[in-house]
Amino acid sequence: MTQIESVPAVEPRAGAGLRSFPDAFVWGTATAAYQIEGAAAEDGRTPSIWDTFSHTPGKVFGGDNGDVAADHYHRYRDDVALMARLGVNSYRFSVSWSRVIPTGTGPVNAAGIDFYSRLVDELLMHGIAPALTLYHWDLPQELQDAGGWTNRDTATRFADYATVVADALGDRVNFWTTMNEPWCAAFLGYAAGVHAPGHTSGAETLSAVHHLLLGHGLAVRNLRSTLPAGSQLAITLNPAVPRPATASGDDALACSKVDGLQNRIWLEPLFRGEYPSDVREFTASVSDWSFVRDGDLPVIATPIDILGVNYYNPVVVAHYGGAGQRASSDGHGGGASPWVGAGDVQFLDPPGRHTAMGWPVDASGLRELLGRLWREYGKPMLVTENGAAYDDSVAADGSVHDPERTQYLSEHLGALHDAIADGVGVRGYYLWSLLDNFEWAYGYSKRFGIVHVDFDSQLRTVKDSGQFYSDVVKRNALPAL
Ligand code: FCB
Repeated sequence: MTQIESVPAVEPRAGAGLRSFPDAFVWGTATAAYQIEGAAAEDGRTPSIWDTFSHTPGKVFGGDNGDVAADHYHRYRDDVALMARLGVNSYRFSVSWSRVIPTGTGPVNAAGIDFYSRLVDELLMHGIAPALTLYHWDLPQELQDAGGWTNRDTATRFADYATVVADALGDRVNFWTTMNEPWCAAFLGYAAGVHAPGHTSGAETLSAVHHLLLGHGLAVRNLRSTLPAGSQLAITLNPAVPRPATASGDDALACSKVDGLQNRIWLEPLFRGEYPSDVREFTASVSDWSFVRDGDLPVIATPIDILGVNYYNPVVVAHYGGAGQRASSDGHGGGASPWVGAGDVQFLDPPGRHTAMGWPVDASGLRELLGRLWREYGKPMLVTENGAAYDDSVAADGSVHDPERTQYLSEHLGALHDAIADGVGVRGYYLWSLLDNFEWAYGYSKRFGIVHVDFDSQLRTVKDSGQFYSDVVKRNALPAL
């Protein structure tokens, strides 16, 4: 049973020195389908690339998979009630393509769409605005068998799927995100090999980038023509905050390559209708980019309303001259290098605090990133993910004390508050994550939730950080410094 009673009601109260957020600020929690739903083979769902990948020995820590995960498919009512107790006013979740259109191209599965319809109704009944992501990395396996994101046709299939979901839920869902972190889908999935489908080809990676972007653009066009006027359309990126290790020109160039491959390769086509020329040049030996066809870039640049931004940490980048071991503290685990065409960059581990992922704790990067994106692209933003993994345990009295996560949140919400004070157009914040869940290649070994999940009993326990976040959202303010 969900321990929602462990969240005492907190009345919002004004107080001297509180750091208030704007009226109508969006306060949410975020999850993704494969990470929490379970019910992998129920009600007509067919395997996605993450089912295949996680069931392949050696790919995921501990041999973990998402077959059961946090069993949210069966417990969604309790989980929504829990969010209502916490006081969040929005919930970011993703839809499993394989549930809605088994095999990716077949007929619509009524039972699959019905699950999301019931979830949306439950959220609305509790006054929680649904924020729907269409693609959080779980491509139907049959589409992968036909080439996945290296196949141009996948972009069209994605747009068809977007129409199906919009037809079913568009009357009740106002906020739509096409894709979550396409950088990970392309670079971790096709270059580093640490995410599904586990390939290590630079040429495939760049083709996947383009087809993900094309799929986004085609989907935006379909969503616009299907959804009611006033619907808010977005894409969520995970832009890097690269910082040069020294003031040398070489390190600056290395930084700019990382910026090109993780940031500008998405932002420039989306908002300026062109790929960055430096990226095309330094990847020319990997790919001739012949997958870009006339007319694609205007589709990709179809206007959206909001940019979703996921932020966890900055990275320290240096030039790598080829001598000694290339340092690889880019936060993406082992595997091949995801840095296609940039064999001369390396990532140094900064001193200071780190999370259980080994990611540095540095909230200044969030303010810097939001400020830069606002200055350069001027799109209203939502922070669609931010949070931290720590090795939590349940104390004898049943509580979960996680002071490091609370500190992480407090610092990052402070940086968000500072960014708003700087005049940056950021409308809300979704904490990653509501629940401990299947953390991709790390399986269940990394806990990002503000709610602890016992994966044997499925018992939910609100962590101290969850209580902290609940206080912030109910007051719409951070405590005074
Ligand atoms: C992001 C993913 C999300 C989760 C967090 C920790 O890259 O979008 O699913 O794994 O990292």
